[in-house]
Amino acid sequence: MKTTISVIKADTGSVGGHNRPSNAMLAKAQEQVDMAVQKGLLSDARITFTGDDIALLMIHGKGVDNPDIHKLAWDTFVATTAIAKSQGLYGAGQDLLKDAFSGNVRGMGPGSAEIELEERPAEPFVVFAADKCGPGVFNYPLFEAFANPYHNAGLLLAPEMKDGFTFTIMDVNNVDADRVITLKVPSDYYDICTLLRDPNHYVIESVTENASGLQAAASSTSRLHNISGKYVGKDDPVAIVRTQKTFPSTGEILSPWALAHFTLGDNRGSHHVAVMPVKQNSIISFFDGPTIVSAAGYCVHEGKLTEAVDLFDQPFWDLIRTKASEKTLSIRAQGFYGPAMAGMDELEYTGVVQNLKRLGEKFVIRQK
Ligand code: F6R
Ligand code: MG
Ligand code: MG
Repeated sequence: MKTTISVIKADTGSVGGHNRPSNAMLAKAQEQVDMAVQKGLLSDARITFTGDDIALLMIHGKGVDNPDIHKLAWDTFVATTAIAKSQGLYGAGQDLLKDAFSGNVRGMGPGSAEIELEERPAEPFVVFAADKCGPGVFNYPLFEAFANPYHNAGLLLAPEMKDGFTFTIMDVNNVDADRVITLKVPSDYYDICTLLRDPNHYVIESVTENASGLQAAASSTSRLHNISGKYVGKDDPVAIVRTQKTFPSTGEILSPWALAHFTLGDNRGSHHVAVMPVKQNSIISFFDGPTIVSAAGYCVHEGKLTEAVDLFDQPFWDLIRTKASEKTLSIRAQGFYGPAMAGMDELEYTGVVQNLKRLGEKFVIRQK
């Protein structure tokens, strides 16, 4: 029997601003998935939060894009929204952009990443959850971990990995339909770089292993402003990455995050800051950020999850957190000038556009 790992997350309201969901919301989400386990819809589930987002990790046998699983996630977020409203929390129901569920959460606000797999004798995997950024935040670390021997020493040292990996990349600006391209390393290396250099436009959707055809990774691709046509919060993506044996090791998958790379997000979704790798259940703070990412490692066996290992809760990452703070402070010192703030096409609030329109009327052409 095949096992499906589904991670679906949403911001349905938070305490003290856009900071974290309340304990009552988390308890409600736990209650909903526990009921689904009791009924046999899920074989196991976990609830976590990263910043203001609740992530549902659900294990089942129904495959990806299953309407029952997606409805469970949607109904859970409707229920946590009701709690948020009853507590007077901020941004209640923020990521639920449609009134009624229609078969799949994709295109409705929540982010989702799913992999269906034949369990290996040991099936280790990592769930990444990021807050205050777009799905392109995974471009750099996923590409580096799967394609660059600087991070993935297995590409040189493990013979079974030498054939490389295939990347499916989505054009997230194409809102009418999924526009995707499939490219391989090593042969298409520069073409992949050409796309991934623009993480607000082209986003890794999945990674498969060339030698076996097995799927190694999946990440969410939704961009909320492309769904609603206006800013309703940043996308705050999730990703699932299988590790070890013919896939990169867990440590190789984590390695690129040590850069604390710059990404677009943070306050009002409109600033470039360095991504900070954080412990599970971390909150949002400085300048409505910084952009954060958590990593939980699990094994799944016959549909049951082990406890999580909190992969960024280790002294090594304290240094990276300090580095991320320093990089963020460094670019924040530049305020709104140049690359510190998003370019016109990615500005998430309309104030600048309105101001420019108003000022445009006051410009005069100087006569020579
Ligand atoms: C970023 C984010 C926050 C808000 C900011 C203003 O994704 O959620 O930075 O954009 O706190 O929020 P509103 O407009 O809700 O007052
Ligand atoms: Mg969020
Ligand atoms: Mg939010």
